Amino acid sequence: MHLTRADFPEGFLFGAATSSYQIEGHGHGGAGRTHWDDFAATPGNVVRAEDGRIACDHYHRVDEDLDLLAAMNVDVYRFSTSWARILPEGRGTPNPEGLDFYDRLVDGLLERDLKPAVTLYHWELPSVLADLGGWRNPEIANWFADFSEVVMDRLGDRLWSVATINEPWCVGWLSHFVGAHAPGLRDIRATARAMHHILLAHGRAIQAMRAKGIGNLGWVCNLEWADPADDSDAAKAAAARYDAIYNRFFLGGVFKGEYPALVLDGLEPHLPRGWQDDFATITEPVDWCGLNYYTRSLVSESSGSWPAHATGHGDLPVNSIGWEIYPQGLRDFLVRTRDEYTGELPLIVTENGMAANDVMQADGTVDDTDRIAYVAAHLDAVREAIAAGVPVTGYFLWSLMDNYEWSYGYEKRFGAIHIDFDTLKRTPKSSYHALRSAFRR
Ligand code: FCB
Repeated sequence: MHLTRADFPEGFLFGAATSSYQIEGHGHGGAGRTHWDDFAATPGNVVRAEDGRIACDHYHRVDEDLDLLAAMNVDVYRFSTSWARILPEGRGTPNPEGLDFYDRLVDGLLERDLKPAVTLYHWELPSVLADLGGWRNPEIANWFADFSEVVMDRLGDRLWSVATINEPWCVGWLSHFVGAHAPGLRDIRATARAMHHILLAHGRAIQAMRAKGIGNLGWVCNLEWADPADDSDAAKAAAARYDAIYNRFFLGGVFKGEYPALVLDGLEPHLPRGWQDDFATITEPVDWCGLNYYTRSLVSESSGSWPAHATGHGDLPVNSIGWEIYPQGLRDFLVRTRDEYTGELPLIVTENGMAANDVMQADGTVDDTDRIAYVAAHLDAVREAIAAGVPVTGYFLWSLMDNYEWSYGYEKRFGAIHIDFDTLKRTPKSSYHALRSAFRR
């Protein structure tokens, strides 16, 4: 790794990220059932039908994991609170063990001089709320705001930052239109409603937390660079549609109080009545914006109904899932987000990292030089954005450790720490050691 802290502005924050369902082990501690348990139990959805029952067993190994985190010399830990662990019924009486767990986690971070950056929702919707329509039901905005209050009442005095909903494109489009994530729907009306209600829930929760005096609140979007697959007008138009759905809808809602016309072309007939009135809530100001970035796609027109786009790849190197490695997209998104949506608001790269074919060697080491190169190239892209005047204030690696990679089960590894999913043994990879030196103070 050719970079060190000295290559970034004073006060720039380095972090590592995880999420609750992907690491904790939802079979423990009184956590309620989530729609990911249901999705994983449905044949064909997840590699080997794996679920998050044990995951990395972080629930029982939290001290060991926090020690590893602190020794990595990061400043911030981005983790999430499981809605189903805290409110097994989605609403009503909290599970005391669940709140105690996060309480210990936050105290453990502060004891190690790490900043707790919480994300309230990283996808583990309680099954009972999914039964009521989940993100399709407008009531979810109130359920989510209530959940945010429960979490803040317990943890709000000790958090560094709070994000509402991780990656609204995944929660909305990927889960209700593509059907690749829970609840696995392929339904345009469900998609439109879910996408709108995600934004409404975000706004309500921001209002509820502000009313409690909680500060440093943010909104986290995942962005994927979209280039036309060829020079045709059809491919350019398809790429613009893809970009609007993926990258502009959720930023446009929060920061402009509007949805892109290219998305309304398909979704407007399916949005809930009076949707425009909700922008007053959706645009509730936030203190920072997080961008999660991994890859780009080449987009072409497909036959069939709206949005009539298909994605493919060019000849760039790929990660072990097949995602193209395109650091320039991170620089360009940081600049574009500042120019078109967020202005002087601080931007944080809240996720970036690489799935690699990590192999444990006979001597017990894992040499992931490809991951080191990926992170270095993306940190260079962050530096370029900073040089262009973009107020980027942090970079968080996805992920601290290998974990449950959703529909890929445990097959795809993103961690700086290797997990043996049979023994649950933790082994820092060479990327961990490289980042530890780069982040040294
Ligand atoms: C993001 C998710 C995270 C992880 C990474 C690889 O979309 O937020 O949970 O799956 O991708």
